[in-house]
Amino acid sequence: MTFSPSSILVTGGAGFIGSNFIHAFIANNPDCRVTNLDCLTYAGNLANLKGVEHHPHYRFVLGDIGDAALVATILAGEKIDAVVHFAAESHVDRSITGPEIFVRTNVLGTQTLLEESRKHWQAGAVADFRFLQISTDEVYGSLGESGYFTEETPLAPNSPYSASKAGADLLVRAYHETYGMPTLNTRCSNNYGPYHFPEKLIPLLIHNIINQKSLPVYGDGRNVRDWLHVRDHAAAVETVLKAAASGSVYNIGGNNEWRNIDIVNLVCDLLDSRLGRAAGENRKLITFVTDRPGHDRRYAIDASRLKRDLGWEPAYTFERGIAETIDWYLANQEWVGEVTSGSYREYYAQQYGGRP
Ligand code: NAD
Ligand code: TYD
Repeated sequence: MTFSPSSILVTGGAGFIGSNFIHAFIANNPDCRVTNLDCLTYAGNLANLKGVEHHPHYRFVLGDIGDAALVATILAGEKIDAVVHFAAESHVDRSITGPEIFVRTNVLGTQTLLEESRKHWQAGAVADFRFLQISTDEVYGSLGESGYFTEETPLAPNSPYSASKAGADLLVRAYHETYGMPTLNTRCSNNYGPYHFPEKLIPLLIHNIINQKSLPVYGDGRNVRDWLHVRDHAAAVETVLKAAASGSVYNIGGNNEWRNIDIVNLVCDLLDSRLGRAAGENRKLITFVTDRPGHDRRYAIDASRLKRDLGWEPAYTFERGIAETIDWYLANQEWVGEVTSGSYREYYAQQYGGRP
């Protein structure tokens, strides 16, 4: 049975994946209201939403998912029938140097959203309701040379980031089991694409190569990640929201494993020609650095359940996705300059007459 939401609450919609989701969702569902609740951390940028901000059914609310009164007001006021929960602290390296905010936002913030959603759903304010928790394959821990994460793989997170996401996923499960709340949980592999903050591997590489800065490769560079274009992730989330059964968990991935060093070499080579540099020039920027503590060796997702049950498959080949991503960064140097300098906060001030 297909669920057709009429008013959704997107949390973290000013971040990388949330903003890509909002662009796609509004294009596909122009009659559905979309409320974006985001507190605009360093990773939240309203310039990611240019093009939808004046859409009659889009509304931005500056606020924290941990603010129970605000969340309750939005749920009731907007008659929200689906929560799509992206808001999080998302960078593993930051979680190693400062884990506390990860617990506060990812665990306690999710708990607040769940609790306010439970009250709203139990009050019967809307005919149907879904809570979709966006999560990561990192909750499963690390793989050896072979094998894949399935939805049955036990949770074994290794970083404060993945531990906080696993904690949130378990709370979502508990709300379904205890209260019968209609929850959904997706766990996706590493994303890449437009609006990706240049602290994560792929946008960092592009940014540093353009600026002829060194390319830090952690450890031996042989850690493996499974890369998916962010628009494929957004499409999968929309599919799960509309078609998955209450209480279900779905892995999302593109069957696209790369060793880090191979990605680094590929991005170097693609940018040699685009920047008019000699072949092999950019690879000279590669610098092996001390490994990340607790660095997961390999992630690989088995997303066959999603394909089998709901018919989702990625639309992007990696060849096309990485080429388009590099071209997007080259064409959007102003955006990169704004987020690296922090001046994008001026944009908020201009639009909303104050500072986040
Ligand atoms: P991001 O860091 O780019 O964006 C996070 C957004 O959440 C920002 O706009 C930020 O301002 C907002 N936010 C943070 N704390 C908040 C709070 N307390 N209240 C309201 N808003 C808050 O993250 P992303 O890469 O877009 O990831 C989005 C979600 O997808 C996360 O839940 C992450 O765990 C998950 N995920 C990410 C990846 C990936 O490769 N990036 C892969 C799988 C799953
Ligand atoms: P990242 O983009 O931080 O995603 P995650 O840690 O969530 O997988 O990192 C992707 C991989 O690239 C990971 O194995 C760590 C590695 N890495 C580097 O080698 N150098 C870097 O500067 C960064 C940011 C990551």
